[in-house]
Amino acid sequence: MPVAIRSAALNDVPAILAIEQRAPGAAHWTSEQYNKLVGSGVVLVAEETGKLCGFVCARAVAGEWEIENVVVAVGFLRRGIADEMVRELIRRAESEAASAILLEVRESNLPARGLYEKHGFREVGCRRVYYRDPVEDAILYALRFDR
Ligand SMILES: CC(C)(COP(=O)(O)OP(=O)(O)OC[C@H]1O[C@@H](n2cnc3c(N)ncnc32)[C@H](O)[C@@H]1OP(=O)(O)O)[C@@H](O)C(=O)NCCC(=O)NCCS
Repeated sequence: MPVAIRSAALNDVPAILAIEQRAPGAAHWTSEQYNKLVGSGVVLVAEETGKLCGFVCARAVAGEWEIENVVVAVGFLRRGIADEMVRELIRRAESEAASAILLEVRESNLPARGLYEKHGFREVGCRRVYYRDPVEDAILYALRFDR
């Protein structure tokens, strides 16, 4: 079944939260934080036959975009859905003349690291003991656009 990628609307936030809360590796946010991002940031959702099955969200600060979260629902994993969402996010960042897309990820999150590396993100640093529960380093990635 084809998956459609589109911008999120405020009424997608409950489904976004439901997907996020079932994903242990994801960053966990409140509905108010997602509402704010839908209004002022970039939130893309993946939808299959009317059912939300993933999302990616980013903030834009002074020309640099920062990916805050990317999650695909259990049951939809490994079907290229994150690939499609990240490709579309990169396309939008480029078309809005962003200088770079940045993010941080748990060192042990190999699926997410593989996803970012596949899309050209390069490791640019490490923040020691950045995460809690469990304590872990953050690996920093950047995708820079040459202009
Ligand atoms: C990371 C995540 C979004 C990937 O979603 P997905 O739709 O299953 O990923 P895709 O099928 O589009 O795969 C794209 C690439 O990601 C990498 N990848 C995805 N799942 C992987 C896994 N289990 N092991 C290793 N690499 C993986 C691969 O590089 C893959 O490319 P390939 O298929 O050519 O090998 C998903 O695993 C997820 O929701 N994880 C929990 C939330 C999370 O940790 N988010 C990251 C927060 S920074």
